[in-house]
Amino acid sequence: MTPDPGRAVPGYRVEPLRDPEAVGEDEALVEALREQIRRDGPITFAQFMARVLYEPGHGYYRRVEPGPGPAGDFITAPEAHPIFGAAAGRLVAQAWEALGRPAPFTVTEPGAGTGALAAGLVAGLRDDGSPLLPVLRYRPVEVEEARLQALRARLAADGLDDVLVDAPAPAAPREAGAVIANEVLDALPVHRVVGRAGGPRELLVGLDAQGDFRSVEAEPSTPELAARLEAEGVTLADGQVTEVCLAVDAWLESATRHLARGIVVLIDYADEPAALHGPARPTGTLRAFARHAVGADPFRHVGRQDLTATVDLAAVRSAAARAGLTPLGETTAAELMAAAGDDLPGRYLRRPGASLQDALTLRSALARLLDPRGLGGFRVLAFGREMPSGAQLGGLRRLRRPREGAI
Ligand SMILES: C[S@@+](CC[C@H](N)C(=O)[O-])C[C@H]1O[C@@H](n2cnc3c(N)ncnc32)[C@H](O)[C@@H]1O
Repeated sequence: MTPDPGRAVPGYRVEPLRDPEAVGEDEALVEALREQIRRDGPITFAQFMARVLYEPGHGYYRRVEPGPGPAGDFITAPEAHPIFGAAAGRLVAQAWEALGRPAPFTVTEPGAGTGALAAGLVAGLRDDGSPLLPVLRYRPVEVEEARLQALRARLAADGLDDVLVDAPAPAAPREAGAVIANEVLDALPVHRVVGRAGGPRELLVGLDAQGDFRSVEAEPSTPELAARLEAEGVTLADGQVTEVCLAVDAWLESATRHLARGIVVLIDYADEPAALHGPARPTGTLRAFARHAVGADPFRHVGRQDLTATVDLAAVRSAAARAGLTPLGETTAAELMAAAGDDLPGRYLRRPGASLQDALTLRSALARLLDPRGLGGFRVLAFGREMPSGAQLGGLRRLRRPREGAI
């Protein structure tokens, strides 16, 4: 996600930034958290984050109002333009071909949000005339039922809802298909850890004398925190703060359990452990998003702002191996877009009734989606289960780069 400066196209449609302070906080949730801390003592940051994001009726992702999107708090790649979903759809179609065109073929999307990826992907396959479409089933998965209803209505409005399946994924590996998740791993709860001479300690969430939330340094709540950093060869400097997500393993196992054969595509802002937990990031990567403004204070706007941390690539690779997934390839969102084909942007411009505004919107979105320091720098990790060896997935082809010294 990137903060949206409020301009669809520089100099063309300028909207004033909305006041991030105006979002306030969920007072009932704040009180419930205070009660928990008064009763049980300081809680881990992962417990705090789980409640402020996912508490039914109160957490940021349990609200009915939109989070991602132009009307919400941040823009994700699929929200930027349907071309992103179309590019992802081409990769999925390549995996389907490599598997020998199984029917049905079910795409499961955990964290489907407003349905932007689903809409772009299905419309892209339709516009490609893809032979996958007649056997495609699409299963959006969300923590909040109200979001799923809005998503179904969105796809229905575009005439794309006949592919949707309501049934939950089977508990056993029975399906051929794909699992695709954009910006979900970064929303999993993280622990906060601080480096000390005697080894890492944990930053818990307690209360100060006024009853406001504050960080409390304590012994780690679990030895898994130090074990993860040690396994990654990371030694934190004294006072250095970082985040450790222990929820990736369970999430990935449950998100892919139903998959007998197919591809798993995870897209997120992510980094290698040495960079993630290195000296260049002395205060970690925890960020808060409210109304397109990035903040650093997780204790403000409780339940009304998104909390997120950069994903640890090594942790995802290990979780995938433990879930029985085989690495297929890694690329970036920009490279995924480029590998999808030069014909893709033109298609949106040649649509009957396409306007100058459509062209400007596409140009602006492509600038973001291809920007290696923006959405284009997001990492794409692809794993397979029972994929034929040597499967050629053009969407994972890295861009050819000029040879060093070449003109
Ligand atoms: C940053 S939003 C991204 C939404 C969408 N994928 C996009 O790219 O626009 C993260 C989404 O993941 C969802 N989410 C988080 N944990 C989840 C889980 N365990 N299962 C399903 N959805 C989850 C949240 O509810 C939220 O809609």
